[in-house]
Amino acid sequence: MLKDQDRIFTNLYGMHDRSLAGAKARGHWDGTAGIIKKGRDWVVTEAKASGLRGRGGAGFPTGLKWSFMPKESDGRPSYLVINADESEPGTCKDREIMRHDPHTLIEGALLASFAMGAHACYIYIRGEFIREREALQSAIDECYDAGLLGKNAAKSGWDFDLYLHHGAGAYICGEETALLESLEGKKGMPRMKPPFPAGAGLYGCPTTVNNVESIAVIPTILRRGADWFSSMGRPNNSGTKLFGISGHVNNPCVVEEEMSIPLRELLEKHCGGVRGGWDNLKAVIPGGSSVPLLPKDVAGEALMDFDWLREQRSGLGTAAVIVMDQDTDVIKAIWRLSKFYKHESCGQCTPCREGTGWMMRVMDRLVKGTAEIEEIDMLLDVTKQVEGHTICALGDAAAWPIQGLVRHFRDEIEDRIKHKRTGRVSAVAAE
Ligand code: NAI
Ligand code: SF4
Repeated sequence: MLKDQDRIFTNLYGMHDRSLAGAKARGHWDGTAGIIKKGRDWVVTEAKASGLRGRGGAGFPTGLKWSFMPKESDGRPSYLVINADESEPGTCKDREIMRHDPHTLIEGALLASFAMGAHACYIYIRGEFIREREALQSAIDECYDAGLLGKNAAKSGWDFDLYLHHGAGAYICGEETALLESLEGKKGMPRMKPPFPAGAGLYGCPTTVNNVESIAVIPTILRRGADWFSSMGRPNNSGTKLFGISGHVNNPCVVEEEMSIPLRELLEKHCGGVRGGWDNLKAVIPGGSSVPLLPKDVAGEALMDFDWLREQRSGLGTAAVIVMDQDTDVIKAIWRLSKFYKHESCGQCTPCREGTGWMMRVMDRLVKGTAEIEEIDMLLDVTKQVEGHTICALGDAAAWPIQGLVRHFRDEIEDRIKHKRTGRVSAVAAE
């Protein structure tokens, strides 16, 4: 378990002072100029050596992503864009950082932007995050007043401006290229990749899009060293991690823990365990709505990291752990996600536009027990036709939870069809 002295987000564990004075008292903004004076290459090398993998869900190595940014300007400015459009069902970890530790994110934005040669950074914050937006804006204002942002930021010799941009409620704007479109004032629709944003991003300029948590851990990594960060967790899955646990546990919460912590330990140490005890567990979604669920027997063995969960055909995703006890109508739970993805599809590509509606309608019949047995395989076939055939990951995200459901709970689906049983909560149409 993570030791107290190794926690980065100490503010999550009590009502600390989130003002600049409070942040400085906890060591933020200490020697920032000295870090910058070590140079761009040093910062990128440390980020790489720390083993930090993107905390937005995909787990792409952060330092490697930074290294794709041009070393010399070709006349175009470079940008850092921070994705604070946290919308993945079950996920509420970045919200905690912005509420309680805004200065960690702002200092990280300066250091990361410097490493990529960017003099400007945009934080794209989810429109519904009103209190978080206020906390961030007030911290940004404090930093400008104190000379930590703007010309010669923090007396580092680097000019740096930070802008907060409010989203307007579309889930798809959390996809990095849709976010860039939205930031440019256009409709938020994903772009084809490649080109990746480092080649052509915001306004066609070199851009890196990073998640809030990925940037907020950077100052501590640079102060305490890459070796310290990489000593936690397992190889290729290093560091500390925020986990947001919801559903049928006694104490839902957001906690910082060591990467690779066993799932059962995470739930029992921080959440008071599964409601009704471990034996009452039915399934767990380990990483937000886009990753397939795990049945109880696999959950009992699970290590909470990218590679272990990938090997089980699931994923760490956003580390939003959704716990379902034996009372859960698991078919209905996945139907609800299908409805969400159908609603949020931007409609740009046919497999996603048509497939999400098709999948949701079959899921609806599965919940009601009115489907034919053959429809289970037909549904799986459709998920395969959507998966990997769309412009962005929303298509995969709609397909994978259904695949996981059929893989692990086929008997329950068949039983419901054979006995023409309606799901535990029968009022599907009322949702
Ligand atoms: P991705 O794997 O396509 O990309 C991840 C990052 O690596 C991107 O920044 C991309 O530009 C970069 N990248 C990947 N391959 C690259 C290459 N060859 N060259 C240069 N850069 C490269 O995944 P994506 O679509 O960005 O994210 C999907 C994940 O997002 C899902 O797995 C889900 O867990 C998560 N998600 C998180 C949400 C949230 O609220 N935090 C909301 C929805 C999804
Ligand atoms: Fe839009 Fe879906 Fe295609 Fe993504 S996969 S671009 S959300 S239609």
